[in-house]
Amino acid sequence: MSSRSVDKNQVEKRRSFAIIAHPDAGKTTLTEKLLLYGGAIQLAGHVRAKKDRKSTRSDYMKLEQERGISINTSAMQFAYKNYILNLLDTPGHEDFSEDTYRTLMAVDSAIMLLDAAKGVEPQTVKLFQICRERRIPIVTFVNKMDLAAKETFELIDNIDEHLGITSVPMLWPLGSGREFKGVYDLKSHQVHQFEKTTGGAFKAPEKITGIEDESLKSLVGDQQYDKLVEDIALAREMLPEFDNELFLNTEISPLFFGSAITNFGIELLLDRFIELAPSPGEIRLQDGKVIDPLDSKFTAFIFKLQANMNKAHRDRVAFARITSGVFERGMQVNLPRLEKSVKLSSPVSFFGQERNTIDEAFPGDIIGLINPRLYQIGDILCTAEAPDYHPLPRFAPEAFARLVPLDTMKLKAFKKGVDELSEEGVVQVFTSDDQTLFIGGVGQLQFEVFKFRLEDEYNTRVRLEPLSYECSRWVHKDQLDSVPSTAKIVYDSAKNPVLMFDSDFMLQYFIRDNPSIELLLHPPQ
Ligand code: G4P
Repeated sequence: MSSRSVDKNQVEKRRSFAIIAHPDAGKTTLTEKLLLYGGAIQLAGHVRAKKDRKSTRSDYMKLEQERGISINTSAMQFAYKNYILNLLDTPGHEDFSEDTYRTLMAVDSAIMLLDAAKGVEPQTVKLFQICRERRIPIVTFVNKMDLAAKETFELIDNIDEHLGITSVPMLWPLGSGREFKGVYDLKSHQVHQFEKTTGGAFKAPEKITGIEDESLKSLVGDQQYDKLVEDIALAREMLPEFDNELFLNTEISPLFFGSAITNFGIELLLDRFIELAPSPGEIRLQDGKVIDPLDSKFTAFIFKLQANMNKAHRDRVAFARITSGVFERGMQVNLPRLEKSVKLSSPVSFFGQERNTIDEAFPGDIIGLINPRLYQIGDILCTAEAPDYHPLPRFAPEAFARLVPLDTMKLKAFKKGVDELSEEGVVQVFTSDDQTLFIGGVGQLQFEVFKFRLEDEYNTRVRLEPLSYECSRWVHKDQLDSVPSTAKIVYDSAKNPVLMFDSDFMLQYFIRDNPSIELLLHPPQ
């Protein structure tokens, strides 16, 4: 068993993060630009990407490519200055799935991306709440400043009102839309005047001046200049100063401005992000103990499974986040759930479609393990005693459909597909007393993905008959006898009973009528 001591520097230079955003805020564009600045891709942006963007590196599934959305979560590692960044991609569509939640369990910080004209949108709120529950510090980037934008003070109010978090501007934008000329850095007191490049394909050149500089006055005009000076003075007076502890506690969020499409503000964001965002830290366990990333004992947990990532390989990959110790290729680890020892012989890192074998990895890193149906979500890998991690969340579905196989000659493929995709967490599968199959999820898109993948990867067609249930709750097995016979009961894959309700109203009604029955949002442990 490996127990190599961990080089502190390797941990301190790592930043594992996700970008959270409402669809269309520019997450794909920003991802691409971060990779550009990290030197991981040579040319980014509109020119090349116009045609190509539907296959941005983190989108690899056919359905994603067809729709130009990112459904799955993959992890990309790239270097920036002396840092190693692990960017975990989260789905950006309206109906997101449980994958998103689980991915946020594997990051140490997040960049919240807002559209400058729209401010906080519904999906932003959902994702923000998960980060806050988990105390994941959030850096805010206001994107699309090259288009019409809300006033800066209005945006700060908007964030406060919808999310209850205080923004602390690190930069102050110089105008917006066509008049977006750069940003003032409230820390260094310098002005970064941006210069446009064709389609934002190369790093944005900029001119750095003081605020008194004559070139700035002539660039923005007298009126704008006076407003800028006034706004900055007001911001200094009215807004709180940045406080690292409050940031780490998700009480404040440092605020940046820019335009991903033109590259304006990306370098400033990255430079400050690596300073602000925490490196992989201690992990608190259920039993009150903590994992120190520098502990030489290797620990990791699996937060995502994916089958058929590459149809040519036809394989299953389990994504594990390392929480302590050094990973070395070929190392032998325990898999406590199965009381087994396994050899991690072919670990890979991913970069969209590409995969590279990795020889070593450190806390904060994500490794992909080729998974011959061995691992499950939530599995622990360790070289000593198993850490008692908080369980990865599984959510009570809010949408259900009856699952009907159409190719009766292919029931074996159907069963394999349903089993594998449910293990992967694409949907949750339930069975009723009369053996009817149901699927449940937190949104309809999960169902579409499920159906598509069954057809595409397992070559078996199904019909999904939508049901009217809008919420569900687990119940303890020993309370089933008290459940009224009118309730609709199904069973999850571990045979735990689940009650389905037509609406939240019906759920509340049930609670009032059956006060002795405990309803659970997550499966019983
Ligand atoms: P998403 O992943 O969050 O859904 O957003 P995505 O990056 O796909 O961006 C959504 C749209 O917003 C794209 O336009 C993209 O070009 C545009 N966009 C992203 N960042 C900026 C920005 O800083 N300024 C401006 N003006 N636009 C931005 P589209 O028309 O949907 O696609 P395309 O035809 O441009 O490829």
